[in-house]
Formats: sequence, C-alpha cells, structure tokens
Amino acid sequence: MSDLRQLTGKRVVMTGGAANIGRSSAVLLAQHGASLVIGDIDESGVAETIEQIEAVGGTAQFVRTDVTSEDDIRNLVGTAAESLGGLDVGFFNAGLQRSGQVTTFDVADWDALFSVNPRHCFLGAKHLVPHLEAAGGSIVFTASLAAIKGGPGLTGYSASKGAIVGFNKALAAELAPNGIRVNTICPGWIDTPFNQPAIEFMGGRESQEEAVRQVVPLGRQGSPDEIASGVLYLASDASSYMTGQILVVDGGVA
Ligand SMILES: NC(=O)c1ccc[n+]([C@@H]2O[C@H](COP(=O)([O-])OP(=O)(O)OC[C@H]3O[C@@H](n4cnc5c(N)ncnc54)[C@H](O)[C@@H]3O)[C@@H](O)[C@H]2O)c1
Repeated sequence: MSDLRQLTGKRVVMTGGAANIGRSSAVLLAQHGASLVIGDIDESGVAETIEQIEAVGGTAQFVRTDVTSEDDIRNLVGTAAESLGGLDVGFFNAGLQRSGQVTTFDVADWDALFSVNPRHCFLGAKHLVPHLEAAGGSIVFTASLAAIKGGPGLTGYSASKGAIVGFNKALAAELAPNGIRVNTICPGWIDTPFNQPAIEFMGGRESQEEAVRQVVPLGRQGSPDEIASGVLYLASDASSYMTGQILVVDGGVA
C-alpha cells in the first residue's frame, strides 16, 4: 500500500514548538512522517510536545534556543542538520505579542517584538539555507492576520509581522533558483493565551469575544489544529508550485 503521508522522510527544524500552534503543527508534521528538531526557550512545554509526537509514532528532539540569539539559532540549525543528516523544511513559528497605544508604547516592547518576530525569521533562514541548498526544500514562517489588517493597539505587533511578509517575498525570489520555496502562514484570531495582551487592551475576554463575533465572518476563533493543516500544506510538496505567498487562515476576515 502506498504511503499517503505528506512528509515521509522529511527532516524539519522549527522554532516555537512548546504549545498551541507550534505544538499542533509539530504533531501533525510528525504524523505525516517528518522527523523534527524543535528550538524553544520553554523546555517543559517542548517535552510535552515530544510526548505527543512519540504517542503518534513520530520522533523529535529539543534544542534549547532563545531565538533572539544568533548563536542559539546557528546551534539549533547546525545540530538539527547533523542529527537528521540534512534538512528539508524550516518552520519559524516562535512569536511574541505586545499591545498598547502608539503614544505610550514603550520602545523596549517595540524592540522586543522585532527581535523575536522578524529578526529570528531572518536568522533562521540565514543559517538554514546552506543546509537546504543541496536538497531543495521549504521554508515556512508564521506571521499573522495583523500583518495585513491592522487593529487598535497592535501597531508594534502588526509592524513586526508585516516585516515577515516583506521578508518572505524577497527571500522567495532569492531562493527560487535553488529550488527552495518560501511561504508564510497568517493566522487570524486563534484561541490561545498568546492573545492575552490584546485581550486586555480590548477590555477583557467578553469584549474580545464580542469583537470576534462581529468581525469574523465564521463567527468564532480558530483552533491551533486549523492552523497546523495550513502549515502541513506549505511545508509539504502539496504546495510545490507555490512560493512567496501568504496563506491567510482567519475565518474570512481579510
Ligand atoms: N494565537 C493567535 O491568535 C495568533 C494569531 C496570529 C499569529 N500567531 C502567531 O502564531 C505563533 C504561535 O502563537 P501561539 O498562539 O501558538 O502562542 P504561543 O505563545 O503558544 O507560541 C509562541 C511560541 O514561541 C516561543 N517563544 C517565544 N519567545 C521565544 C524566544 N525568545 N526564543 C524561543 N522561543 C520563543 C514560546 O515559548 C512558544 O513556544 C506566533 O508566531 C504568533 O505570533 C498567533
């Protein structure tokens, strides 16, 4: 019987796999045959992710990584390439959110957003590409609906995720001659604790849920699993004629 799993034999390095979108994606990629190396600052969160991966018959390992450190990212990618014998996919999903009005927004928060969100995508690509060159491959970034549709209190977050979308376009053009594809997933409102700063800015959970009912045509928040299936599509050869694109998974907002 043929193997219908979309990532059989593929070697994946990823960031931000300790919970929620990253965890659901890691488990789904593993279910589809990928071997993974996961970089994160949250060791116990990734340990739980690895347990779930092993429960579905997959394999994964953890490399402690603060994505704001170039040394850590170089080490993550190098360790993954050595341990898996090369790399086929990079999934850069780690992210940070801060909310606040522009007039009072702290420059330290702005810098923190940029040091995690777009800067780590750049560093990831910089150190991953030499390992992908020979094999071809796929790079996937996690941006956000906020990159293409703004909202009050989200100037810093939107700007940092918008930078990923611009980086995605240029990198895709640069790497296409090498047969490497680059795409970005833009989740809308996904129900995870990540949104707490935005929820507080909006006046609490009830106000946020009301806003979601008003703004999201499907009338609800998404789940991490609903983003993971988009990540699987972009990482795998199912999207082999797609590069430089954003995949917006947002219940119909954009
Ligand atoms: N939840 C949403 O509504 C939503 C919407 C759009 C985009 N996103 C994006 O999806 C991604 C995952 O979000 P989530 O909702 O699963 O939240 P999450 O908080 O569970 O995921 C963030 C991950 O990044 C890791 N991380 C943060 N800073 C790090 C650092 N310095 N070094 C290493 N790892 C670090 C965290 O440990 C965690 O594993 C993020 O990039 C986020 O911006 C989320």
